[in-house]
Amino acid sequence: MTAQAKATIQAAQTEQPILSVRDLKIEIKMDSGVMNAVDGVDFNIYKGKTLGLVGESGCGKSLTSRSIISINPKECETTGSIVYHSPSDKDLNGTNLLALKPTGKQIRSIRGRKISMIFQEPMTAFSPMYTIGNQIMEAIRIHQTRNKKAAKKLTLEMLAKVGISDQEKRFDQYPHEFSGGMRQRAMISMALSCNPEILIADEPTTALDVTIQAQVLELMKSLQAEFGMAILLVTHDLGIIAEMCDEVAVMYLGKIVEQAPVKEIFDNPKHPYTRGLMKSMPRLGGSKTQRLDSIEGSVPMPINMPPMCGFYERCSERIEGVCNSKSVPNTQISDDHSVRCFLYSEQSGGEVQ
Ligand SMILES: Nc1ncnc2c1ncn2[C@@H]1O[C@H](COP(=O)(O)OP(=O)(O)OP(=O)(O)O)[C@@H](O)[C@H]1O
Ligand SMILES: [Mg+2]
Repeated sequence: MTAQAKATIQAAQTEQPILSVRDLKIEIKMDSGVMNAVDGVDFNIYKGKTLGLVGESGCGKSLTSRSIISINPKECETTGSIVYHSPSDKDLNGTNLLALKPTGKQIRSIRGRKISMIFQEPMTAFSPMYTIGNQIMEAIRIHQTRNKKAAKKLTLEMLAKVGISDQEKRFDQYPHEFSGGMRQRAMISMALSCNPEILIADEPTTALDVTIQAQVLELMKSLQAEFGMAILLVTHDLGIIAEMCDEVAVMYLGKIVEQAPVKEIFDNPKHPYTRGLMKSMPRLGGSKTQRLDSIEGSVPMPINMPPMCGFYERCSERIEGVCNSKSVPNTQISDDHSVRCFLYSEQSGGEVQ
């Protein structure tokens, strides 16, 4: 990393984060025991920066991101803290979002306005009962302007920005009249229309073809440059991570196992799991269904897990009697690079490498 890049990252990190997630745990009661679906996650999100959250299917990325706006299903027992440092609202500054009532007025004033989310499943965002245009326009009117004409104009502009043609006609159509990719784009335009301070994008472009995918990513970047939006970007696609992110958190089995600036993650991955992901890296804009599934072995269910490394069974570098005997501490290997692996921990009985 160049000295200048390092200085920029350090300057950003001395800034106050706009969102601080600490010791986030999400437990789900199952017939066979309690599933620790998210297990002690910590990260910060900064104004104008993008944090990528990457990891195989089922590692807890969506639960983590949805907990920020309190929309996880009832069966999820969530603890820890998610502190929001609102730059625009003194009353909200320092609020622990997890302490708010999920259906209350305060979180509703944040959700969709200060913090917007693009979902993996676009139908989550739209009601089948109203036209797409009316739903986007209402979102704009609730949060930005009472003026119907201005809201309609902005809606049409946003639909055009995400590559939807014939916007006047599309405005009056219902969600079922849109294809999956079109619904995804309409949802993205709704999420971005309110200039959120934080955008949570959960696999925002998986359902889109390559050209539209590039267009949507460009739109997110340009709005970020213009308004300083902070982005939490969840994806399986390391190509998108490389293209979009400043920092990356690698998740495995409910835990962040490695976190570092994007260049550092690609140039100097430490965790055997991260190294495995790098080898299985799909190309940017690769097949829509391409998954990071080429690391051998399957992910265990995090139910009644003994204290040990969750990657143990799949790891070619495991230390018998260490990695399977206690839970793995997080090791800070440099100012901005941390890894949860005994290979780098003094607790392994060896040197920090
Ligand atoms: N409502 C629920 N009831 C039971 N288990 C759930 C529920 N929601 C999520 N899970 C489980 O919690 C784990 C984490 O789910 P999550 O949706 O966060 O994964 P993910 O990392 O987003 O995966 P993907 O990449 O496939 O979207 C998974 O094992 C999932 O099956
Ligand atoms: Mg998900």
